[in-house]
Amino acid sequence: MIGAAFALLGYSVAVSGRLEQLDWSNLLVLALLFLVCESVPTLLNVKQAAVSVSFSAALAAVVLVGPEGAALVGMTAVFSVRPGLPLVKRLFNGAQFAVCGYVAGKIYEWLGGGVGLPTIAGFDDLIVPFAGAAAVFVPLNFILIALVLVLTGQADQVPLRGVAQFMVSYLGYATFGLLIAGLWATVSSISAVLVLLPLFVARWAFGQYNAQQRSYDATIAALCQAVETKDYYTRGHCTRVSLASGMIAHEIGMGSERLRAIRYAGMLHDVGKLGVPTKVLQKDGPLTEEEFAAIQLHPMRGLEIVRGIDFLDEAFAGIMHHHERQDGKGYPMGLAGDEIPEFARIIAVADAFDSMTSDRSYRGARPVEVAMAELRKGAGTQFDPVMVVAFIKAVDRDGWEPPRKVITPPAGAAETTTKDHDDPTMPIQVVSER
Ligand SMILES: [Fe+2]
Repeated sequence: MIGAAFALLGYSVAVSGRLEQLDWSNLLVLALLFLVCESVPTLLNVKQAAVSVSFSAALAAVVLVGPEGAALVGMTAVFSVRPGLPLVKRLFNGAQFAVCGYVAGKIYEWLGGGVGLPTIAGFDDLIVPFAGAAAVFVPLNFILIALVLVLTGQADQVPLRGVAQFMVSYLGYATFGLLIAGLWATVSSISAVLVLLPLFVARWAFGQYNAQQRSYDATIAALCQAVETKDYYTRGHCTRVSLASGMIAHEIGMGSERLRAIRYAGMLHDVGKLGVPTKVLQKDGPLTEEEFAAIQLHPMRGLEIVRGIDFLDEAFAGIMHHHERQDGKGYPMGLAGDEIPEFARIIAVADAFDSMTSDRSYRGARPVEVAMAELRKGAGTQFDPVMVVAFIKAVDRDGWEPPRKVITPPAGAAETTTKDHDDPTMPIQVVSER
């Protein structure tokens, strides 16, 4: 790639002689602009995906300074301020932007686009050639990066998921290049500031939003961890209930905001166990009515613990009512059928399923098929049949990975509970004190 970029520049100097006709002052400003854009990529949620608005600057260069100029502008990516980026990656970045810029420039000229400051009258004629240039620049950039990842044995890093969305957003960024070029004739380099500043602000805000989401996730994970340290056998239970709840919610067509909320609710459904005395959770044999009442209080306790976290929103209802039953025999409120909030009906299925397919101190994990049969049996009495059907469908399609076998903890090394309140096959025995 680096060789190809140098060959292109060598050709431009020695054979075509076009470098001499370049508008160097504009090129310098564009190169500086490109460099600034390249240097401030916002790290997104997607692993290692750094998105920057440098595409706009590169495509403005195609219009203003032609293929050779766009290649030189792209090459400045070598000098971008990205601490710790190795030299070979810098050279590759510069080279691939140079090649993309050059090829896009050639397409632009081939489609009849004029190089230089656009006039107001001639602006219409730029649109089609510019669209052609952008349509080549964006995929070529993606292909070259994917190629180098494959050749260096990092094929798994190629961001194939959501590639269409990625292309469309980049084509969108590319369009701003035309705006910059169009405004250049009137306000010269200030046009770049006018166009790119709002973009930078929007990108910055988006980055902040992602950072906030990550801190939410960390908060929830920490709470989860706190619950699971109470019981050796329930490690990973919150995460799996969250996953299964997400599968059901997705299957019944929930929107992305609610999907996020149900995942949080799944993570936190048993957070109220923190408020139940450990000796009750760990008691061997039947519980007294008082002890059982303490267990039945855990959904309320959960709500008390997380009530102050306002982003949980609809998740509260899921936490509060995840032990209600369709026939109204559940707790804490004894709601029945559709009175039970949707989130709670989902979590109830996910919760019981994970409990059955996990090891407990008093029994081994049951196979997925057996747990499914148990869910079907309880549909209509304990569980919402719609959610049971949705879950079975989702598992049939996507599969389910039950937790690994729990190696019996050495005595005294970890805490375990003897009865699991989520296990529908082994109801808790309660003895009357009277
Ligand atoms: Fe629970």
